[in-house]
Amino acid sequence: MRRCDNARLGAGFPPHEGGDESFVFDGALAMSSGRFGRVLTGLLGLPAPPRLVRAETPYAAQPLLGRAVLVGGGGDLRWAAEIVPALAGAGAQIQVAAGQPGVSAIKRAAAAAGVALKTEPNEEDRANAAYAYVFDASGFATPDDLRALFDFLQPRIRRLPKNGRVVLLAAAETATPAAAAAAQALRGFTRALAKELGRKGSSANLLAVAAGAAAALAGPLRFLLSDYSAFITGQTLTLSAPVTEPGAFVKPLAGKTALVTGAARGIGAAIAAALAREGAQVVGVDRPQEHAALTQTLAPFAGRGVALDITAADSPQRLTQLLADEFGGADIVVHNAGITRDKLLRNMSVPIWDQVVDVNLGAVLRIDTALLASAGLKPAARIVCVSSIGGIAGNAGQTNYSATKAGIIGYVEALAPALAARGGAINAVAPGFIETQMTQAMPMLPREIGRRLSSFSQGGLPSDIAEAVTFLASPLAAAVNGRTLRVCGQNFVGA
Ligand code: NAI
Repeated sequence: MRRCDNARLGAGFPPHEGGDESFVFDGALAMSSGRFGRVLTGLLGLPAPPRLVRAETPYAAQPLLGRAVLVGGGGDLRWAAEIVPALAGAGAQIQVAAGQPGVSAIKRAAAAAGVALKTEPNEEDRANAAYAYVFDASGFATPDDLRALFDFLQPRIRRLPKNGRVVLLAAAETATPAAAAAAQALRGFTRALAKELGRKGSSANLLAVAAGAAAALAGPLRFLLSDYSAFITGQTLTLSAPVTEPGAFVKPLAGKTALVTGAARGIGAAIAAALAREGAQVVGVDRPQEHAALTQTLAPFAGRGVALDITAADSPQRLTQLLADEFGGADIVVHNAGITRDKLLRNMSVPIWDQVVDVNLGAVLRIDTALLASAGLKPAARIVCVSSIGGIAGNAGQTNYSATKAGIIGYVEALAPALAARGGAINAVAPGFIETQMTQAMPMLPREIGRRLSSFSQGGLPSDIAEAVTFLASPLAAAVNGRTLRVCGQNFVGA
């Protein structure tokens, strides 16, 4: 047993008044199926959490090979011509349901792309059943159109296998209040469906596609339909123009340099490894006292370690110079380093307020300002910040932390046009409850409840965040800019 000085709170749970050293860390309870969790689960008669299937291997040319995807649509279906080649390119077998609206548009798109379609097998033919349903609702003009979505999914949803996927597509811009109502209804539908599917380890997400962004649908479709997005559900990801330079789907980060802060352990270590797996040269930064851990983390992929406190006055200049001199500038910057120092506001001291604001927000802005004004950053750079569900839902005892994590969301929105003008992008991920030292330091009960509140009844893993960051750092996210992607299993609890 060892003491922790880190986060201890979940949403709605008041902090312990005894100070930051009051709780002990019990390694035996660390992972999502801990002893306490199993006892609680048994006592309350709760179902066992589903086993989520996660991808760990490098991106493949055809990640959906051998899998069948049922494609449908309603109204004036707009993106069949993009969806069909995207799925076929990823190796999926495309199925259509005879007699459904939208089938003729899908058939036309398939003929144009030279793609063979299969008719949906009958209910008994489990071996050939689709593991994913993709529904194009981009043409929905009124709430009446929602019925087409119901008619498509309702009879089939119980056939979706474990770890299945539902991806809806909607127009990001709408011309009339009726179309806006239908588009927003799709978001509500997705959130509710995700809660129903979570117990099977399946997800439902929505892609809101702006005019001019459909050309970049293939990357987000690959990601959301793959096992790299296992802990993302109930989310809307908006794709907008301009679309940045497309790139390869295999080793998409080859030849790129990626700066990752807080890379010694936890989520940062997982991010560094995932970026390296996809070909990036990683420059990992962490505090000088973490240097041994940082070196160990970076060794398997020959990452360059930098012992540096990101709040040090000279850190923007040191990083800028190092990246420019040794690597000709960074292509990817991941602002992951973050801290919690929890206290109810009435008990919060100036030093812990200042410390959290400085690490989580101040240093991020100072480093980016220096990088953007120098050769330390390539023009088409992609920046990814790590926010938190704490910045969306708010946690009692985390006014400092929640302020900074919400600040990150505002920051990426505001800086997005400037990055787009350079051919780059800036986005954020908002992790929910993730199994790291930060959440292991929470008291047992809130920790266990925190896990249980997700649609998957479990916490996420650092690799879940790493995969979302890798997607956002890659050309697969060519139309994603200024967004915050929640990676939380639809949870509102997180560190
Ligand atoms: P962690 O505490 O395990 O790791 C954070 C890393 O950042 C450590 O290696 C630490 O030394 C480094 N770091 C802290 N201050 C630094 C500084 N001034 N200069 C350089 N490095 C510094 O935390 P974890 O859980 O891996 O979190 C990573 C990020 O994810 C943080 O931004 C955190 O706020 C965020 N997050 C984590 C959640 C969770 O459930 N674990 C939930 C939501 C967000």
